Amino acid sequence: MQYKIISHDQISPAYYHLSFYAPSLVETAKPGQFLMIRVLSDSFDPLLRRPISIMNVTPDGSLEILYKTVGKGTYLLTRLMSGMNIDVLGPLGTGFAIPNEPKNVFIVGGGIGIPPLYFLTRRLASNNIHDIFVFNGARSKGDLLLVDRFKTLTPHIFLATEDGSAGVKGLVTDTFEQVLRERSQTNIVVYACGPKSMLKSCASIALKYTGDIQLSLENQMGCGIGACFGCSIDTTMGLKCICKDGPVFQADTVTNWLST
Ligand code: FES
Repeated sequence: MQYKIISHDQISPAYYHLSFYAPSLVETAKPGQFLMIRVLSDSFDPLLRRPISIMNVTPDGSLEILYKTVGKGTYLLTRLMSGMNIDVLGPLGTGFAIPNEPKNVFIVGGGIGIPPLYFLTRRLASNNIHDIFVFNGARSKGDLLLVDRFKTLTPHIFLATEDGSAGVKGLVTDTFEQVLRERSQTNIVVYACGPKSMLKSCASIALKYTGDIQLSLENQMGCGIGACFGCSIDTTMGLKCICKDGPVFQADTVTNWLST
């Protein structure tokens, strides 16, 4: 399907924010799901379709994404302007499970893993029954994403950068562990999205406090719909496709993937 772009802005040297009008997607999109996006061009190279997570949906029918330029597909995406069309397949995959009863919610994200967690945090905050703690980490200040937006949703936001240019110097999982230990809370659910090393560390820390750890995994994707098996991984339930059965999995089901 093609949708009209409402706005498209470079928010920092490597990151772009794009919104497009898609009421039908907005109705069904869930936090943690993603889109396969192909830039309309003379080329029909299927490799130009890229998985990009959903950052937000709005009541006026627009859907937001925030992406980082990392290759040909995302470079071509940067050339699109307001009023042009974008080719989108989705929403795809299985997203985060949202608890109906009050929980202490810990959300841990690194770098470009942050945008889907913003959508999740908005959905959780709208329930008005959860205590939400957000841990937003990146290599450097310029890679910290959506900080001001998160601040409108919860007062409990913790920033960490590896070079110390913003927030606490160090890994975001170190801050996460410290806060978990100090607060020694129960009734916890943990959500995480980011690099594999961060997910692995996050899972091993959180396992001491809760069994409900939902990880959004990243992998190379081809079709995005469970047809090519290019994203299959070994889980406790057998081989599963990240694109269709995930990208969100319970941490204890993907320990083999985390350890490789
Ligand atoms: Fe084809 Fe997942 S990308 S099965």
